[in-house]
Amino acid sequence: MATRERIKKGFSKLLKEEKLKLIANYFENPGEVISLLKSYWHSDSKQQQLFDEFSENTITNFFIPYGISPNVTINGKDYIVPMVIEESSVVAAASAAAKFWGERGGFHAEVVDVRKVGQVHFGWSGDKEKLFALFPKIEKRLLADTDAMTEKMRNRGGGILRMQLIDYSTQIPDYYQIRVEFNTGDAMGANFINSALEQFGHSLQDFFAEQKDLPEDLRKVEIIMTILSNNTPDCRVKVWVECPVEQLDGIDEHLSGAEYAKKFKKAVDIAHIDTDRATTHNKGIYNGIDAVVIATGNDFRAVEAAGHTFASRNGHYESLSSVTLENGIFHFELEVPMALGTVGGLTSLHPLAKKTLELLGNPTAPELMTIAATMGLANNFSAVRSLTTKGIQAGHMKMHLNNILNQLNATEEEKKQAREYFKDKTVSYAGVEQFLDSLKK
Ligand code: MEV
Repeated sequence: MATRERIKKGFSKLLKEEKLKLIANYFENPGEVISLLKSYWHSDSKQQQLFDEFSENTITNFFIPYGISPNVTINGKDYIVPMVIEESSVVAAASAAAKFWGERGGFHAEVVDVRKVGQVHFGWSGDKEKLFALFPKIEKRLLADTDAMTEKMRNRGGGILRMQLIDYSTQIPDYYQIRVEFNTGDAMGANFINSALEQFGHSLQDFFAEQKDLPEDLRKVEIIMTILSNNTPDCRVKVWVECPVEQLDGIDEHLSGAEYAKKFKKAVDIAHIDTDRATTHNKGIYNGIDAVVIATGNDFRAVEAAGHTFASRNGHYESLSSVTLENGIFHFELEVPMALGTVGGLTSLHPLAKKTLELLGNPTAPELMTIAATMGLANNFSAVRSLTTKGIQAGHMKMHLNNILNQLNATEEEKKQAREYFKDKTVSYAGVEQFLDSLKK
């Protein structure tokens, strides 16, 4: 296949209209493409400018459905939870689980901790013992130099919690790390942490430059990089549901609640020992979590990265959720790291993220952690329930029916008839195609 002609230098300097025209020329019908992409521009140019400025080289917007999972009870409080997701069955699955558990005491949640981590990676060629001896002074200096920067955060109960010097010099010669723990309050805190870390880097260099008793070559440190870590195992939330096994009666028409509980547990246990299953199982959890994270303008890549690392904490990748069956009680739990913010960043800039938070009752960041994790557990419950009973395709394809009908350009009347016809039948692409053909005949 021939490669596309390369775009000349300076693309980012072009006006938006010019970028759009240039890109449209890569399509068979540029005029049509321009109209299509423009039809997704916001009608209010001020709003559109806001979106354009979130990122670089924007030429249009990409829509994803914004759905609602109503009546989610967490710690006795009811929430209406917005979910931004393109996968047709996710909101329905979350809502079904919320209804099911709402009738059984709701979801329970607890924030384990809210500590985040940043790192100063540096090189120093001096004596290791000397470095460790100097560290208390270094720590003092770094804290003093970021005093003004952290004042506001400290007043809100956050700030820098702990600093450690870590010796990696046996693995990489002369390489050390200052590992810093932060509490960033209701902010996700990436900018706060990274600004503090960059200052630490400068201060560390200044500190060594001022050590006149050290030989000249040891008055230099190499700041390799300073950056927050997206590994946030200590910014973690636990959510669970539980009920007597008899309250699971009726989920499977062939099994009692007690028998079904054992089958459900087996399905979750499999995801603890088998990585192939664990990956899909956890993907189902992130269906729910990501949808809330995106709806609130938070960083879903950061949340996912931390979650998958956490899922590997025992030396192999495994399920983030687990089931226990003790004394006739079914207990289903999810524990996940989750670095979220409810102030700053896109949370207040994106008009819909702001509205999501308002609908959630303007939660604190820890409260939002409980909500997002709950939707993860809710989706996980529904997925495993379907998988262990009627299979995933029945519900999945029912929700997908609209997509198939749209792909086949069905008219509104045909859609209506198809929905009625497939109410009690298995949906498949070929089946829908055949049904539409039969209508035409
Ligand atoms: C689909 O998006 C998610 C599931 O595959 C999750 C699972 O298998 O547990 C249904």
